[in-house]
Amino acid sequence: MDERIISANFMMEDQAVELSLRPRYLNEYIGQAQVKDNLKVFIEAAKMRKEALDHVLLYGPPGLGKTTLSNIIANELGVSIRTTSGPAIERPGDLAALLTNLQEGDVLFIDEIHRLHRTVEEVLYPAMEDFALDIIIGKGPSARSVRLDLPKFTLIGATTRAGLLSAPLRDRFGVVSRLEYYKTDELSYIVSRAADILGVEVLGDASDEIAIRSRGTPRIANRLLKRVRDFAQVRGDGIITTELANEALKSIQVDQLGLDQIDHKMLQAMIMNFRGGPVGLDTIAATIGEESQTIEDVYEPYLLQIGFLQRTPRGRVATPQAYAHLGIPMPDKN
Ligand code: ADE
Repeated sequence: MDERIISANFMMEDQAVELSLRPRYLNEYIGQAQVKDNLKVFIEAAKMRKEALDHVLLYGPPGLGKTTLSNIIANELGVSIRTTSGPAIERPGDLAALLTNLQEGDVLFIDEIHRLHRTVEEVLYPAMEDFALDIIIGKGPSARSVRLDLPKFTLIGATTRAGLLSAPLRDRFGVVSRLEYYKTDELSYIVSRAADILGVEVLGDASDEIAIRSRGTPRIANRLLKRVRDFAQVRGDGIITTELANEALKSIQVDQLGLDQIDHKMLQAMIMNFRGGPVGLDTIAATIGEESQTIEDVYEPYLLQIGFLQRTPRGRVATPQAYAHLGIPMPDKN
């Protein structure tokens, strides 16, 4: 599924680019104004008090910059960051090792924190609250608990699924920020900034063309920019004009709204086979040969966001906007 160019999920190919394009300080970070303004205050206050920043939870769809923002927070604080992810911490001992290696004030970044193992999560509670590690020594009746002091640190948790976080974990974050999809003008600015760093010239409205089709997601915008740059290099003179951008995006089959072949297939199946729905997720999945979970996590969120799809108790429904976009007339309800 992640062959899709418009997937918001991280791909290996993104790594090199994301590292070079990623803003390193808040003043380079575009968009998410509210989150940014608040963080600025919290960071400055923590620095004035010479304390660790309160624990931060960042949540929102993939590709919006949760990891980037975490690195920025560490940079702004002038501390080191250790990065890991929920599923990577297999045993409580793994977390203990990470925690005891932190320096005073450091940031521990846990991506996909909703996927932490229960037993690991329980070690995290006293660590977050009291900066302490409770270790059980021995077995059976002679077992006893020893409390180890940890350096005061900042945990930054990131998740696409805040709803899956247990209440005790969620409650231990002092700062909870939701990242929103980016507006087109913000994405356009991000594309221009990235083009500058990549040393490629983008003329006129070409950055808007790319921005419009990026599904509100900087990661997708940067990926599309790279593909368009390839076309500019091979089919043009290296300069990205609006015309070239349009042609390139057409060639890679990303439409005016950032929908690709699979989005089209799914909407078409709903409309042609099920009169637009309601139709169950599993039925859609079987019809287009995809996994239900993949549809729910990957394909559906953006279609819901732009109002092409509705979730009802009886299944998914294609909206009039979806019909209009595909150029299919709505069936007569009588
Ligand atoms: N690259 C990816 N996301 C960005 C953002 N929010 N601001 C600037 N550059 C970015």
